[in-house]
Parts: sequence; structure tokens; C-alpha cells
Amino acid sequence: MSENETGRQLTSRRDFLKLGGTVIAGAALFGLGACGGSSGGASGGGGGTGDVTLSISPDLVDMMKPKLAAFSKANGNTAKIRVMPADTGAYLDRIRTQLEAGSSDIDVIAGDVSWPSQLASNGWIEDLSARFTKSQQDAYLPATVAANVWDGKVVGVPFFTDAGILWYRTDLLERSGYSAAPATWAELQEMALKIKRDAKLENGFVWTGAQYEGGTVLGMEFIRSAGGDILKDGKVVIGEQDAIDGLTIARGLVTSGASPAAVANFKEDETTGAFLGGNAAFMRNWPYVFGLLGDREQTTIDPATIAVAQIPTARAGGTSVNVGGGWNFFMNANSAKKDTAWELIRFLSNDAQQKAWALEGAYLPTRKALYEDPEIVDAMQVVKKDKEAVFQTTTPPVSPFYADMSRLMAERFNASLRGTTSPGDAAAKLQDDLSAIVAKGG
Ligand code: GLC
Repeated sequence: MSENETGRQLTSRRDFLKLGGTVIAGAALFGLGACGGSSGGASGGGGGTGDVTLSISPDLVDMMKPKLAAFSKANGNTAKIRVMPADTGAYLDRIRTQLEAGSSDIDVIAGDVSWPSQLASNGWIEDLSARFTKSQQDAYLPATVAANVWDGKVVGVPFFTDAGILWYRTDLLERSGYSAAPATWAELQEMALKIKRDAKLENGFVWTGAQYEGGTVLGMEFIRSAGGDILKDGKVVIGEQDAIDGLTIARGLVTSGASPAAVANFKEDETTGAFLGGNAAFMRNWPYVFGLLGDREQTTIDPATIAVAQIPTARAGGTSVNVGGGWNFFMNANSAKKDTAWELIRFLSNDAQQKAWALEGAYLPTRKALYEDPEIVDAMQVVKKDKEAVFQTTTPPVSPFYADMSRLMAERFNASLRGTTSPGDAAAKLQDDLSAIVAKGG
């Protein structure tokens, strides 16, 4: 473990596990500390060349197409896209079914940061240790590589990283007499209610509370922002009072009217739509929204009135925490074209490609050098406006059973948000259920 320039600690995958994921992965975003990563064992071997297929979520298709065309032209083999569900959990279910059946249809998988342990522990994705060498790994933010290490082997290559950000409308805040973003959830609630009244807005604060992976992320974020957690030192702590406080804050946003009841159905699209449609003062979302700001088809709001801040805390003076995300490239262990698959992964994750994703879509790069690139720093408002917003990024708990944990959390967080279960009961049930999963080795 080492300290980076910000003085915040970076960490290895094992420490993520020990700490239940509460370490600061996002601190690596702008730091140059070197740790995490892996040497790991030899790759499963086996080469093979030919046309390859990449699976991705629908939101990335438009930007990905020209990149695959460029790859195909340069490589000689053609790379095609297989579009998967937008919902991270539904995508995982789909890919898991295929991999479990031993399918070799898909060669490269663009997959979520929470997947490596699940896919690798089943032997479905290739050990890339022999191909993704230590010196290659050094070009990446350490935490993004560490997130792809399973059992000492590196099983994925970082694509882009994600951080939870509070977005707000400066024009609406000013109109209601506010000059700064809220620091606590209580302030946010009060401000959202006043702004909603003053500007006759449909919604105060919108966020992704639906029953899916994004809802799990938000529930964990409320819990961690209240000082609670899911796992601590390998033990489930979600039943503790701090965690209950976090879920109570989420429910309070809805009962107070600061957030619409519909947040219990909102995923990224609905959330972004409400905010960019001018129907909300605040939004919790990922940096990709920056890529939509200048697009007149997406929004008529003046981009100059949109600002970002850190996720509020439960208590005044507390440290802001967000639960981040990100996407990686994995190789199907059953691919018959592993050499071409690897060439595609290398191509899609090189500096030029990551720069294009950053400039075209505001996807945060995972390669260190790009944070020194003036063009990126200039164009990426998230880097310019509020670096701190992405500093306190934490990861979901690391476990081969994370999918089961996440499913249960999504269900119970959503029930608590809807008021069909109390936050205390939701937390108590999760304490029991997650403990049972951990006991069976998760
Ligand atoms: C974003 C994040 C990803 C997360 C998903 C939840 O795509 O990058 O990690 O799983 O949102 O909706």
C-alpha cells in the first residue's frame, strides 16, 4: 500500500475485501501512487485469430462503432458489436448464461467493475497475467487495475472509471437565494424543497433508486455517507445504526417531497432525462452526463448553469463519500480467437482511444498520462470544476457472490425507499441474508 499525492491511501484488492470496499479507489484518479496490480500466474494460453465480437451496453454503441471500424481496418480481422441490456444486472445475467454454457460467441466483454470476482471465480474469463504485463499495468491508475485482480491474477483491463457526483443548477439555486451546493443531506433536502416551490419545478432531487445495480450503488452511497457500511473487516455491518440512518435519509427525501416517489423507478435514463429536461434542481449521476450537455437534442439548458459538487454527508463536517463504478474489458476463456481478442482489448484501452472517449463522451480515463493531457483537462469539466467530487470514490464490496448480495440489496433498499419496509427492517434482513452469504464463503 502506498500514499498518493493527495495523501489518501490506495489499496490492493485484498484490502478492498478486508475493508469491505470502503477504501478510496477514486483517490487514484489524480494520484500517481503505484500499488495494487498483480503479477499472477500464467495465462490460460491458447491463441487464435479471426473476426471477434465485443459485448457492450447500448449506451456505448454509437461511440464504439467507429472505433471498431478503425480497429478492423488496421487489424484485418473484423470486430463486431453484440448489444447487451443497459441495466448492469440484466447484462450480467445474460453474459453469465452464455459463459456458463461454454459459448464462444463473444470474445471480449465490456463489463462492470463489480464483475471480475464473479466471472473469474467460475473460470469464465481469461487470466490475462501473461498478456497484460506489469509494465503495461503501470500505465493505469492503480485502483482501476486492482479492481481487475482476482486471486492474484489480473483478469481485466480498465476501460473507463466512474464516480458518483452531485449535479445542480446554479441558476435555480441563485434564484432561491443559495450561493453554494449543499454539504449535508439535510441541507440538500431543504434546498430542494424551496427551489421546487420557488421555481414551480416538478422535482427537487432526482437519482437512480430503481431495483437494479444502480439502486444498490445509491443505497450503499447513502449508507456510507452516514458513516455506515456493508462489510467491515469481512463482517457484515449493514444492520448497524449508521447504515439504518443512511437508508432513513433516502426514504426521508421521498417522504419530504424533495425527491419524487418515482425515484424508486428511476435508472440512469429517467434521472438524466428529468434533470436535462429542466425538471429538477439536483441530480446524482455519473460523469457521462457532461458528454450530453452541449447536445441540443438532449437538453436546452445552458451548460454554464450546470455545476457539480461532492455527494453530501449525513453530518456537518463529515467526509464526502461516493460509490463509484467503471467498466473493463474481459476476455471469454472459451474464445477461439484470443490473440485477436487481446489485440482488440489493447487497442480499445490505449491512450488515443481513451482520449477519444473522454473528449467525446466525458468518460473518465483509466490511464494515468491522460490526466496530464491539457486537452482533456480543459475539456473535461469534471476534472476542472471539482476534482474533489471524484476523490472519495469507494467500490462495491468484493465477493464472488456480489451478484447475490447486490440483488438482495437492490430489493431491500427499494422496499425501504417505497416505504413497504422500514429502513430498520430492511437493514436487519440484509444483515441476516448477507451474513449467510459471507458464511458460505462470500
Ligand atoms: C455505471 C457504473 C457502473 C454501475 C452502473 C449502475 O455504469 O459505471 O459501475 O454498475 O452505473 O447503474
